[in-house]
Amino acid sequence: MYKHITVLKHELIEMLNLKPGGVAIDCTAGGGGHTQLLLEKLGSEGVVIAFDRDQQAIDHLEQKFQKQLAARQLILVHKPFSNLESFIRSQKNELVIQAIIADIGVSSPQIDTPERGFSFTKDGPLDMRMDQKQTTTAESLVNTLNMEELKTILKSFGEEPKAHYIAQAIIREREQSPITTTSRLADIVKAAVHYKSPSKTHAATKTFQALRIAVNKELDELNNLLMQAFSTLATGGRLGILSFHSLEDRIVKRQFNKWAARNQKIDFHSIPAHAKHSTPPPEGKIIKPFPLKPSDDHQIDNPRSRSVRCRVIEKL
Ligand SMILES: C[S@@+](CC[C@H](N)C(=O)[O-])C[C@H]1O[C@@H](n2cnc3c(N)ncnc32)[C@H](O)[C@@H]1O
Repeated sequence: MYKHITVLKHELIEMLNLKPGGVAIDCTAGGGGHTQLLLEKLGSEGVVIAFDRDQQAIDHLEQKFQKQLAARQLILVHKPFSNLESFIRSQKNELVIQAIIADIGVSSPQIDTPERGFSFTKDGPLDMRMDQKQTTTAESLVNTLNMEELKTILKSFGEEPKAHYIAQAIIREREQSPITTTSRLADIVKAAVHYKSPSKTHAATKTFQALRIAVNKELDELNNLLMQAFSTLATGGRLGILSFHSLEDRIVKRQFNKWAARNQKIDFHSIPAHAKHSTPPPEGKIIKPFPLKPSDDHQIDNPRSRSVRCRVIEKL
């Protein structure tokens, strides 16, 4: 049973300005909520190409969209979305891509299935791989990285202020026996940061986020996706990204601002007069000046949507 509530489903798709008969790409098909709406908007003459690197998601999508797959309205790609450009290039026909979307979170089945090892609230193996074919797991990182490497991951991907103490505790504990479960890691982190009073966020939240990002190379994937998506889009096409934490949103915001030539810290006084006129024109137009956030009702229906930010840019 695959259960995932799609975040900002209509809001995102409405901002894409889709025309029937076009081609769109869903980079993170998951439960197929956005994919479904893309298919409806593009109609029977349209084509949706949908990526996911998770076998469980692919199995579900094959069941859910049997008809559309048979009609070649939907093409499923079981690969990381950093393969987008090479996949498009490998197609026989030249494709005019009207829209590309990515909903860069973890799916509910990934978090809710203890065996996947994403959650500190459920005991399971320390896995955290979105792509089950991949060899690196959270367990292999936690038990092999040295102190500095662990600290860097916790700081850069979790923004964890107590990275030093947590890394120290991990090294000490794994000398007793390898750390192989989510609950043992959560307990180690809790003890390392002297977590006592029940607070809104669990002491291990940042550590688990950091390890998940490291295992799945999530920021590299996102950076690759942005560059590949923008070069793959047709002129006038739109790229929409849903991100779930500030590290990702910052990457998206900065890159969108660069394309739109906005908020660039250029010191115009230092540019020679002849060069001022040759500043390159913007390559993109940001569709809404501020990121779209979920309404209060949406957050009540789906608490996991709380932190989402949606940004859309049009290629000029
Ligand atoms: C939040 S879910 C998407 C939910 C989907 N929009 C829906 O409406 O059901 C994110 C999905 O993206 C997939 N994913 C994350 N990073 C990926 C990557 N780099 N390449 C391909 N799929 C990825 C995950 O496996 C997961 O299934």
